[in-house]
Amino acid sequence: MNILLLGSGGRESALAWKMSQSPLVENLYIAPGNGGTHLYGTNVDISPLDFGAVESFVLAHGIDMIVVGNEDPLVAGIYDYFAGRCPNILVVGPSEAGAQLEGSKDFAKRFMAAHNIPTARYRSFTAATADEGCEFLATLNPPYVLKADGLAAGKGVLIIDSLEEACKSLREMLGGMFGKSSATVVVEEFLKGIECSVFVLTDGAGGYRVLPVAKDYKRIGEGDTGLNTGGMGAVSPVPFADGEFMEKVRTRIIEPTVNGLVADGITYRGFIFLGLINVDGDPMVIEYNVRMGDPETEAVMLRVDSDLVALMKAAAEGNLGDMELRESPLTAVTVMTVSGGYPGSYEKGKTVKGLDDVKESIVFHAGTRRTDSGEILTSGGRVIAVSSLGKDITDALAKSYAGVAKIGFDGKYFRRDIGRDLL
Ligand code: AMP
Ligand code: GLY
Repeated sequence: MNILLLGSGGRESALAWKMSQSPLVENLYIAPGNGGTHLYGTNVDISPLDFGAVESFVLAHGIDMIVVGNEDPLVAGIYDYFAGRCPNILVVGPSEAGAQLEGSKDFAKRFMAAHNIPTARYRSFTAATADEGCEFLATLNPPYVLKADGLAAGKGVLIIDSLEEACKSLREMLGGMFGKSSATVVVEEFLKGIECSVFVLTDGAGGYRVLPVAKDYKRIGEGDTGLNTGGMGAVSPVPFADGEFMEKVRTRIIEPTVNGLVADGITYRGFIFLGLINVDGDPMVIEYNVRMGDPETEAVMLRVDSDLVALMKAAAEGNLGDMELRESPLTAVTVMTVSGGYPGSYEKGKTVKGLDDVKESIVFHAGTRRTDSGEILTSGGRVIAVSSLGKDITDALAKSYAGVAKIGFDGKYFRRDIGRDLL
């Protein structure tokens, strides 16, 4: 098969790495890719949001399947675009309607309510109902959770301790703090527990497979302090997501979600990311995403022992059948190296050295680009994910931190405590 993967982050590096191992793949293209994805295929300088340019490329290169790595093209309707114009080309991802699970938090909450999927109690407000929003806040216990309805690059959630501040922030959000994304705001009850990320591949006909579970480290600072980032590291498996917990996840969340999509007539042939929280042993949904997680994918792919391309193809064709998804018993971790200053402002264009000296880990490029002379330069906040497999968390972490030590660029920062809370 000829495959086009859309995206440019560490997630796409890990997907490309895994896909390139499949005997089904003839040519793999990555658009736009990054400074490392050429190791697994051919980078193509096209924006995933330019559907016309994607279409021209796909037709010119006999692409059989498009794998959409990030949410933006999905929310913008890339699935429907190709279903309408090139019905023979498989697309791994939800339709525009399905992508609303991530594109609109209000839609996601209504979907969960309709299908009895456990999640925090909530109400949604607009500028016209801001006063009622403040009244609703007063019925909740602190801290208060405010979520911009639309996509806000991971920044649209505020967690606020005082009622007065929360009411003020609600009005600011409704007044355009996140542009159109916060024209509607979801106000919800705060849930206390440990989070984990569960990934499901569904074929849109009730069939699904669960990928290895991971835990992500979102804050910039050690001990989970400081600003939220895209993710500073990940560990898979997650010790508390044991058989009993996962059985609850399956019956209370995965099956109602997968079957709910079918019942609601929503086309969805792709990955569902369940952001879950373990509240005293009971899983509840914090959020849905309509793609794989980043940096979770950089750990999870190391533990998928089956042919990912075969699975994605079957899902996109609408029939996972009895296809197996085997999980490695080993532990995978990934540690992200980031640019100094991230997630605030940071400089780009720093030379990255030492990548070839990393021997016991896989380096997945995220925010990098390669110059014509083959030099690797930083081009984003998250620069390189160092992923390792080990017999346990300690073993895998030792490998990743040894790898991180070999990599050098001006301003390099990383968290030294990935996985420590799980030991
Ligand atoms: P989201 O973008 O919905 O994933 O929210 C970002 C982060 O805010 C989550 O990963 C949680 O850590 C936190 N969060 C969101 N909603 C809640 C909630 N209802 N209770 C506690 N924490 C939450
Ligand atoms: N790691 C969280 C995300 O991909 O949204």
